[in-house]
Amino acid sequence: MHKVKKYIAEDLKFSNQTIKEMKINSKKFYNKIKERRSVREFSNDKIDINIIKNAILSAGSAPSGANLQPWHFVVIKNKNVKKKIRIEAEKEEENFYKYKAPKEWLDALTPLGTDENKKFIENAPYLIAIFEKKFSVSKNKKIKNYYVKESVGIATGILITCLHFSGLAMLTHTPSPMTFLNQILKRPSNEKPFVLLIVGRPDKDVKVPKFAKQKKAFEEITSIF
Ligand SMILES: Cc1cc2nc3c(=O)[nH]c(=O)nc-3n(C[C@H](O)[C@H](O)[C@H](O)COP(=O)(O)O)c2cc1C
Repeated sequence: MHKVKKYIAEDLKFSNQTIKEMKINSKKFYNKIKERRSVREFSNDKIDINIIKNAILSAGSAPSGANLQPWHFVVIKNKNVKKKIRIEAEKEEENFYKYKAPKEWLDALTPLGTDENKKFIENAPYLIAIFEKKFSVSKNKKIKNYYVKESVGIATGILITCLHFSGLAMLTHTPSPMTFLNQILKRPSNEKPFVLLIVGRPDKDVKVPKFAKQKKAFEEITSIF
């Protein structure tokens, strides 16, 4: 067996909470995270980039297949770049809503009231484009990544959670296809756009569809053996 360097428990910051503390903390976390809502109207208030940096550092701490960390995050704050992204995203979205989307999909979207207009891309102070890397390149060598979608999904969830905890709102946006992001953001072809996050404070008159808050009950989403 290969000899592996290891930390021992006392070097690690594992918490040693009592069951009572765990119950309180898990409930506190649930009460906070259930208030997260996708927002489609943002104020253009300035946000300190260090908050975004901490959210990305949190995402970067995520577990990943063989710890290969198959992700790249692009933070967009420049107005012109946002405008370019909006133009391309709206082209794809118009195509989707008018021609590509099957009726079933459009029916599923009806309660959200979304359409091809993506004003929020220009209004929000930050966009974060998350890319998944099928393989990485180091010293001109290809390194295959494993469980890419699962890893990037987990990292994205942690990023969103950190943004919510910091007091920011966000939207997961997925115009399809998103290949225009590679061109605009100058990302190489081994990277595929995963999601585009729109980040900022919600507009003061923001409205969110009631439908979004209706989550399935514990019994419906869980089995216990
Ligand atoms: C992978 C993924 C893709 C999404 N894509 C879009 C999108 O392109 N446009 C949009 O308005 N909302 C998008 N959403 C947001 C969902 O509509 C939203 O999460 C859902 O309605 C539940 O609302 P909530 O986030 O407030 O709980 C997406 C969410 C996920 C997880």
